Amino acid sequence: MTSGRSFYITTPIYYPSDLPHIGHGYTTVAVDTLARWHRQAGDDTWMLTGTDEHGQKMLRAAAANGVTPQEWVDKLVTESWFPLLETLDVANDDFIRTTQPRHEERVQQFVQALFDRGYIYAGEYEALYCVGCEEFKPEAEIVDGTGPFEGLKVCAIHSKPLELLQEKNYFFKLSEFQDRLLELYKTEPDFVRPESARNEVVSFVRSGLKDLSISRSAFDWGITVPWDPAHVIYVWVDALLNYATAVGYGNDPEQFARRWPAFHVVGKDILRFHAVIWPAMLMAAGLDVPRGVFAHGWLLVGGEKMSKSKLTGIAPTEITDVFGSDAYRFYFLSAIAFGQDGSFSWEDLSARYQAELANGFGNLASRTVAMISKYFEGVVPAPGEYTEGDLTIQKIVADAAANADAAVERFRIDEAIAAIWTIVDALNGYITENEPWALAKDEATRERLGTVLYTAAEGLRALAVLLSPVMPASTEKLWVALGASEGLGRLHDQPLREAGAWGVLRPGATVEALTPLFPRVEQA
Ligand code: ME8
Ligand code: MG
Repeated sequence: MTSGRSFYITTPIYYPSDLPHIGHGYTTVAVDTLARWHRQAGDDTWMLTGTDEHGQKMLRAAAANGVTPQEWVDKLVTESWFPLLETLDVANDDFIRTTQPRHEERVQQFVQALFDRGYIYAGEYEALYCVGCEEFKPEAEIVDGTGPFEGLKVCAIHSKPLELLQEKNYFFKLSEFQDRLLELYKTEPDFVRPESARNEVVSFVRSGLKDLSISRSAFDWGITVPWDPAHVIYVWVDALLNYATAVGYGNDPEQFARRWPAFHVVGKDILRFHAVIWPAMLMAAGLDVPRGVFAHGWLLVGGEKMSKSKLTGIAPTEITDVFGSDAYRFYFLSAIAFGQDGSFSWEDLSARYQAELANGFGNLASRTVAMISKYFEGVVPAPGEYTEGDLTIQKIVADAAANADAAVERFRIDEAIAAIWTIVDALNGYITENEPWALAKDEATRERLGTVLYTAAEGLRALAVLLSPVMPASTEKLWVALGASEGLGRLHDQPLREAGAWGVLRPGATVEALTPLFPRVEQA
């Protein structure tokens, strides 16, 4: 059915020991929106998300709760992480858990292949480790502790003490890939986006790469190193490989060839793993590097990165219970420039909900449908001759559709929504100017009334299609209310890259009553 190019896109796989907060939700709805857009445009789309279940952090959390790590992750994934996808209306194609046999076996296969190719050696190691990051910290990210941690070295991200680890480890020869990585960033300037992320990665790699410790022997909650069962594979190597194991690396060459390589969307906190270590691992294995890594910014609460460990975490349901999943998706994706940090506040969320969704888009939909009901017995009128003003609307719709698609191509969901919103604003102005309620008073202007309401309804048809990847629930409601499904079929089957064409909605279709798309919310 899909004839288009392959579009495989991933979220990070989250640590299930933290409960989902709006930061995880942000990445997930961004990726879902990009995937829905491409899927609806006919691209051969695959969206992957999942959970990262090994490592010391998980082991300790399980122990603190008096259960085995497997019991611990099973409980969290079922009770908190699967439901997140429902809460946010996410249409992922697969969900990978790193404790699944399909993953564990192929990770061993991959690591064995690197070993056989001579990229792994045994060595001694002593360094400061952050369990929060699951990472040996580079100098630049080690700071002096304050308060209860006065006199200790702490992680710059987690503000928690680092642990000195001394082990015999296996190492990956990351240092050998410096030139090839720099060459990659040069020949494919879009490999790391946005520009600020790219610059950071380039200067990090230019400053020199150290070999990477890729095994641990002090605990056993992980995937066993195939040639040395006293070790488990470092949790980040295990985790990064999910992107390959989930699409058939090592057991389904056809599926792997069809999907790979992927686009990865991540928060900037884990950029280096994705833009440096991961492509180097793939190069070492002789596989294609990703098509690109896009690092978005942090959601800030009170000026700081929102995080569960700092108790600033907000659960997505706190927002969706009040405003609904569409408003959640719209708010985060439109209010924050994708790639930059953004401050979350309830005031900003309420204000935008009211202005843009309830008064802007929702009201446009309600009054258009209501006027068609009232003046044309609920039947979409045929347009008469178009005036200059009508043609302007048609051009705005065509331009908005083209600009939105171009923005999505650049991963700039916020710019895509801004482009689409020019239709909302133009149509609201158009209705005010044309005063259909005045035209309705005179039989002589009945044809003109039909043209005006057809123009508004057809504009809404385009809006429903263009906004369906962002707000799948309310656009579906609108689609049905416009009577569009009668002649045109399901909203999700409307070709997205043709959304800007004019005259698609059929005159004669029957509209249905529309309850407010974005009802008033009670302010707390
Ligand atoms: O790092 N603002 O998992 P994790 C925006 N398991 N996004 C945020 C955020 C915030 N304040 N906080 C979290 C891991 N995120 C590893 C990933 S991938 C092979 C392994 C989002 O549970 C953002 O996408 O700590 C960030 O990169 C991710 O959650 C980190 O999730
Ligand atoms: Mg984290």
